[in-house]
Amino acid sequence: MSQIQEKTQIIRIDRLTSDIVRLTLDAPNIASVASPGQFVMIRTGETNDPLLRRPFSISQTSSDGHFQILFKVVGRGTDLLSHCREGECLSVLGPLGSGYRIDTSRPACLVGGGMGIAPLLFLGKRILQNGVDQRPLVVLGARNREELQPLIDDFADLGLKVHAATDDGSLGHHGLLTDVLKSLDLGPECMTYVCGPKPMMAAVYLFCRSKKYGCQVSVETAMACGMGACLGCIVPLKKGGYGHSCSDGPVFDAEDLLWQL
Ligand SMILES: Cc1cc2nc3c(=O)[nH]c(=O)nc-3n(C[C@H](O)[C@H](O)[C@H](O)COP(=O)(O)OP(=O)(O)OC[C@H]3O[C@@H](n4cnc5c(N)ncnc54)[C@H](O)[C@@H]3O)c2cc1C
Ligand code: FES
Repeated sequence: MSQIQEKTQIIRIDRLTSDIVRLTLDAPNIASVASPGQFVMIRTGETNDPLLRRPFSISQTSSDGHFQILFKVVGRGTDLLSHCREGECLSVLGPLGSGYRIDTSRPACLVGGGMGIAPLLFLGKRILQNGVDQRPLVVLGARNREELQPLIDDFADLGLKVHAATDDGSLGHHGLLTDVLKSLDLGPECMTYVCGPKPMMAAVYLFCRSKKYGCQVSVETAMACGMGACLGCIVPLKKGGYGHSCSDGPVFDAEDLLWQL
């Protein structure tokens, strides 16, 4: 796995909602080797507060050496990032971790909740580039239309239709994305690629297990080093012991994790 520390320039800032921001960064070395499900660790400020870099999924790369992250402001680090300006530079470490393992022999369903939607755009694009008989199904859930619509538009640009669920019913199904998932004809042998809050991923895994679908989940635990050195991100494994979500993951086969269901 090649890890690169790169000083990246912010090329573009899109404020999708009052607290969701998309940054486009010029990072040819990282963009050229990244794969879907991998992440970067970003130094969010110039001082020691916050001291640690923050992890973000790579949500899209482009052939001109750019990549994008999509994030929600939840604390000090993301707040600082949201106040950056175009032209400023950020120190980025990546690409890190082990991403989704694309199985082109199986129909794909991408399932994302909240900011867990971020890595799925890159994944959808890569699945299409790999050449598949069937276009991936996409099921996304968020709090409301304001949050979800810009992300649905991104998938539409790839020619992928999104089946949506919102907490307030302002777009798509009023309720849980698992209700939407259960209503779709996913076909036999489906492989689901999932990212989102833990309870949502557990519910998707349970459904997949009942249908004998494959299920890969991206586990976004808190991380300190992002490189397997601090034990800050361990997750219990079904076979016993622990895995590092930063280096063994963040994407795991859901069957390999010890779930508290
Ligand atoms: C591999 C990976 C990929 C990620 N990708 C994205 C992404 O694409 N977009 C995005 O918006 N966020 C993503 N996250 C979460 C993101 O890293 C955190 O939101 C960020 O580190 C918060 O930093 P902060 O300083 O703003 O908040 P902090 O002050 O560190 O925390 C503020 C609050 O957010 C909670 N929090 C912090 N980290 C997480 C986490 N990992 N999961 C749930 N709650 C958390 C804290 O418990 C606290 O309540 C990812 C995390 C991981 C591990
Ligand atoms: S974040 Fe340090 S070991 Fe994973």
